[in-house]
Amino acid sequence: MLIEGQVVIHERLGDEDQRLRKLVLKGPIAQTAKAGQFVAIQVQDFSISSFDPLLRRPISLAGISSERDEITLLYRIQGRGTEILARAKCGDKLSVMGPLGKGFSLPDEGELWLVTGGIGIFPLYPLAQSALAQGLTVRLFWGGENQSFLESAGLSSWQGLGIPIHLSTLDGSLGQKGLVTVQLKELLEKHAISGGKIRVATCGPKKMMQAVTDLCLDYKVPVEVSLEERMGCAVGACLGCVVTLTDEAGTLIHKKVCQDGPVFQGEEVVWDESC
Ligand SMILES: Cc1cc2nc3c(=O)[nH]c(=O)nc-3n(C[C@H](O)[C@H](O)[C@H](O)COP(=O)(O)OP(=O)(O)OC[C@H]3O[C@@H](n4cnc5c(N)ncnc54)[C@H](O)[C@@H]3O)c2cc1C
Ligand code: FES
Repeated sequence: MLIEGQVVIHERLGDEDQRLRKLVLKGPIAQTAKAGQFVAIQVQDFSISSFDPLLRRPISLAGISSERDEITLLYRIQGRGTEILARAKCGDKLSVMGPLGKGFSLPDEGELWLVTGGIGIFPLYPLAQSALAQGLTVRLFWGGENQSFLESAGLSSWQGLGIPIHLSTLDGSLGQKGLVTVQLKELLEKHAISGGKIRVATCGPKKMMQAVTDLCLDYKVPVEVSLEERMGCAVGACLGCVVTLTDEAGTLIHKKVCQDGPVFQGEEVVWDESC
């Protein structure tokens, strides 16, 4: 679906050093959107009527409100495209394509553990909301650089969900010092002894998702991962986002992150594509 999304809220998130923004758009995308899906948003500077940059930028759905017909996008200003996007004002209409891709799935019962690093947290909030609405137990493991980042990126909203949260920071300013996988391993170990059904959903830096997948496979816990690739068309036409996976027989296959993903089963991902 291609829509003109009207900017309802566009504001800084937390500490300006983090360069994070919250953008709420009104439009019908919320009616069919699912956690883990994304939109491709046009970021051209209309004031100088140019087609530059030509490519839309993919941003995950960080909030979905079908009652208000609104989607929330949380993003970090990384480069030229997001710098232009950051100039959009309330009332502006942005060209938005979506919802795109295949999102996370929810288990029928048991616990859903969300494991994330940095801004990989953004697509997980609507997933947590859907899981809680379905009566599942949700637990969050979130690693970030420091306290300022975690607070700027929405820690208080997560605390408002009333779920167990395991934080880690690289500098030890909040939560446990170190990587998010340390606490995940400890809890997986405890759970392996007590039993119980768990499924893990992870999103964030590739190295972290690889480590999370390895741990989950060790403990025989199913894991879904949300891959990020640079995108061209975002609708399956340009092959710009192809990744290597394995099928059930172990044969190498190729899939498009924009259309077949971004969410895949962890066990099917080939993390080191050079081998
Ligand atoms: C499915 C998907 C969902 C995403 N969701 C979000 C989100 O919710 N919030 C958010 O802030 N960002 C998200 N991103 C990343 C976002 O699309 C990029 O940050 C954005 O396109 C950068 O555009 P730019 O023109 O500002 O930066 P560019 O000038 O294009 O790049 C600036 C820097 O960012 C790096 N970069 C750009 N795109 C990517 C990418 N896809 N993966 C890794 N590195 C990249 C470049 O290598 C470069 O170092 C998502 C990407 C994908 C594929
Ligand atoms: S971005 Fe063009 S095929 Fe995926």
